[in-house]
Amino acid sequence: MNYKEIIDNVYQLSVNIEDILFEGLWEMPNGVSINSYIVKGEKTALIDGVCGWDGVPEKLLSLLDKLDIDPKSIEYLIVNHMEPDHSGWIEAFKEVNPNFKVVVSKKGAELLEAFYDNNNDVIIVKDKDTLDLGNGHTLEFVEMPNVHWPDTIATLDRKNGVLFSCDAFGSFGSVNESNFDDLLTSEEIDFYEKETVRYYSNIIGAFSLPVKKAIEKCKNLPIKIIAPGHGIIWRSNPNKIIEDYSRYASYQKGVAEREITLIWGSMYGMTQKAVDYAIKELEKKDIKLNVHRVPEDSWGTILASVWTSTGVILAMPTYEYKMFPPMAAALEELGKKKAVGRKAFRFGSYGWSGGAQRELDEIIDKYKMNWEFIDPVEFKGSPSEEDLSLIGQRIEELINEINNVL
Ligand code: FEO
Repeated sequence: MNYKEIIDNVYQLSVNIEDILFEGLWEMPNGVSINSYIVKGEKTALIDGVCGWDGVPEKLLSLLDKLDIDPKSIEYLIVNHMEPDHSGWIEAFKEVNPNFKVVVSKKGAELLEAFYDNNNDVIIVKDKDTLDLGNGHTLEFVEMPNVHWPDTIATLDRKNGVLFSCDAFGSFGSVNESNFDDLLTSEEIDFYEKETVRYYSNIIGAFSLPVKKAIEKCKNLPIKIIAPGHGIIWRSNPNKIIEDYSRYASYQKGVAEREITLIWGSMYGMTQKAVDYAIKELEKKDIKLNVHRVPEDSWGTILASVWTSTGVILAMPTYEYKMFPPMAAALEELGKKKAVGRKAFRFGSYGWSGGAQRELDEIIDKYKMNWEFIDPVEFKGSPSEEDLSLIGQRIEELINEINNVL
């Protein structure tokens, strides 16, 4: 856990969380930071929380101590978003300061009541409402519904242009002491870009339309620094993370990067023979390739790859008249996250009957995924030389389709 001054009288407190699944579901190989902020005017506000999962703000209190801030002096707790990674400390915080006021959106207030035993004063804010902390620190609230939950707001300190953006513009990836964009190496920036794609696709991606609306709103705000609830602080080039988010939002509809994600599963190695051949062919091409096996690779990892890929190849056998089940589960998740409009190709083996294609069609239809498939290649048992050659031709066709839209 660390703390730092971002700008005069504005502080960040952050804690890295590792070895858990985010939302109990999403793998985080490189952890995540939970960031909290303090703004000190004549009055003091604490924005979002740092200890989500354990619910006991001992770390928060020790950091306040280091900053010489008496927890009892904190008059306002601003909860930009009531998901417990940002709000899980509220009840425990009462033990050291029973008199704070909670500042939330209307929907945030409903969730506050549902989640916690709250009897503190609640101030409900809406777009453009302000809270004057004194010494020039006027906080303006910015509604960003569905980035990530309907309750979400961001908070802008008008004195210095710091936007406390909560989930918006956040990323996975633990942070270190130098978590300002201008203090990171280009390799570290690359690392956070990948972690941003994983975070965006896993957590925010389904809400890409609200993200676009939030970005439009940001264009009219005097933002100088972006201080998100997860990840690094963007103070030298806040536009970079705004532009990255804008690009990731656009990828939801299908035309993404020059990448193919091959997702495959195999029962006894027959589909795998064709996968090995396809990978060799794809590696000769001028296109980035991501390969994931189901069920071994997590949904989150697959989703992050598909999010940036214009093309997807699915390789799986038929299983009891249907699709190989872990492939169906992964596709359902892609559908729920609305990863639509991909150029796609499927191949795989069957034994005594087909059936994978029927279930694939059902899932694509059910989630209105609108993936454009070229003709599949199915083979009974092990693939023949002719089957492999046909798969090679289909890969060429797929790349041509991708080239046509990029
Ligand atoms: Fe970081 Fe949607 O909570």
